[in-house]
Amino acid sequence: MEFAIKSGTPEKQRSACVIVGVFQAKRLSTAAKAIDEASEGMISALMRRGDLTGDVGQTLWLYNLPNTLCDRVLIVGCGKERDFDEKAFQKVIATAARTVNASGATEAVSYLTELAVKGADSPWKVRQAVAYTEDALYRFDQLKSDKKPDTKRPLKRIVLNVPTRRELMKCENAAREGMAIAAGMKRAKDLANLPGNICTPTYLAEEAARLKKTFRKLKVDVLEEEDMEKLGMGAFLSVSKGSEQPGKLIIMDYRGGDKTQKPVVLVGKGITFDTGGISIKPGAAMDEMKFDMGGAASVFGTMTAVAELQLPINIVGVVAAAENMPDGRASKPGDVVTTMSGQTVEILNTDAEGRLVLCDALTYVEKYNPSVVIDIATLTGACIIALGHVASGIMSNHSPLANDLIAASKDAVDPAWELPLWDDYQEQLDSNFADMANIGGRPAGSITAACFLSRFTKKYHWAHMDIAGTAWKSGKDKGATGRPVPLLMSYLLKRAH
Ligand code: BES
Ligand code: MN
Ligand code: ZN
Repeated sequence: MEFAIKSGTPEKQRSACVIVGVFQAKRLSTAAKAIDEASEGMISALMRRGDLTGDVGQTLWLYNLPNTLCDRVLIVGCGKERDFDEKAFQKVIATAARTVNASGATEAVSYLTELAVKGADSPWKVRQAVAYTEDALYRFDQLKSDKKPDTKRPLKRIVLNVPTRRELMKCENAAREGMAIAAGMKRAKDLANLPGNICTPTYLAEEAARLKKTFRKLKVDVLEEEDMEKLGMGAFLSVSKGSEQPGKLIIMDYRGGDKTQKPVVLVGKGITFDTGGISIKPGAAMDEMKFDMGGAASVFGTMTAVAELQLPINIVGVVAAAENMPDGRASKPGDVVTTMSGQTVEILNTDAEGRLVLCDALTYVEKYNPSVVIDIATLTGACIIALGHVASGIMSNHSPLANDLIAASKDAVDPAWELPLWDDYQEQLDSNFADMANIGGRPAGSITAACFLSRFTKKYHWAHMDIAGTAWKSGKDKGATGRPVPLLMSYLLKRAH
């Protein structure tokens, strides 16, 4: 999709389509008012007659309106004007994108970015509009033999309007940011949607090599199992050894800042399929465990967006990629392994594999002397019980970092919520046979998983994001969401500015 930023009046737009918003209680937006006045009250008449209520998500097409220069006007309901917040804005943008795309108009001029959103400026609205238009139009058809788009004439170009010309420059930059975020979300969704037989650890390593070809500032290095053996990564290898697919530790190093600037390090859980191993999972919905590399996908997505924008920051993306399978060589419950840190772990459940690959990756990244480390992982089913499919869980050993991530989640409308990482929970990991067990029982399962990781992150500021409930959707709309790429990008853009 192509995006442009302009400032102009809606009735004068020579376009296939003009998009304006209306609110409940017959309240017209500024742009809707302009169209209404030009067309001698067409919109207000429809509202009076009850054809148009202004409920969030409602849409109505008007053709050949008198005294306008466009072919059609799309009216989008925005709900109560007083309640029109960032979330409602996101919803309205997505509805408009899908509706116009299905209409046959290949280009549109949107006035939705002129709507007043509480606490939001024009660049924010433009960035979000661009990212969430692309998000709404995303399709995964790589593996279908018939790749025809759903509409014969898909939407190709959108002009976003801002109230004053003074804002054009800032908003053009915001559109670039929105496009990079969209590209990052698309990369994350594409990777996560791929099935386990295609998206293996080796495939992810090849994906990193492809990224390196596209972006000059990116260095890529892949540690093979032999390398990890030399480093003493016994926990990581205890997961990958049950699979025919070799595990890989993939490192993408982007240096856009000056040499002295300590990097942000992102570590993604990249279990390309999680059967549970010998502690095998029940069959229902096991296909969804192809999404168990959602954290890794978000690292690829974020690195893509950062590199595309050439942000002046240093960032290292690390992906711990392995497949968790039951096999003659697989780990067994009760096995004890030694991690790269020297600490020993009793594997009481082979299905708690994410923390095993992550703990060695987290020790490995000490060498980057990081400013902060953020791991992103579809780590625990318990996180879905705690926060549902709405918010990602955040746990951290440094409250300023947790606060920054929560602020970024609000800015991006990519919800996240902090859970306490108190010492009181640590004893649940006690083992009679090793330094710790890899599970802490059913109570506070997401927190004890983070407690496990916290034993490997003492040397730096660290936050853990549990995205088990937010990385993908189940049911009719089954598919990856691209979260939390928007949150991470808000965090990084703030650091870059
Ligand atoms: N990948 C799963 C977590 C998961 C489960 C994410 C369902 C999303 C939906 C993880 O590897 C896992 O199996 N965790 C176990 C941990 C338990 C054995 C302590 C879980 O959550 O049941
Ligand atoms: Mn598991
Ligand atoms: Zn898993």
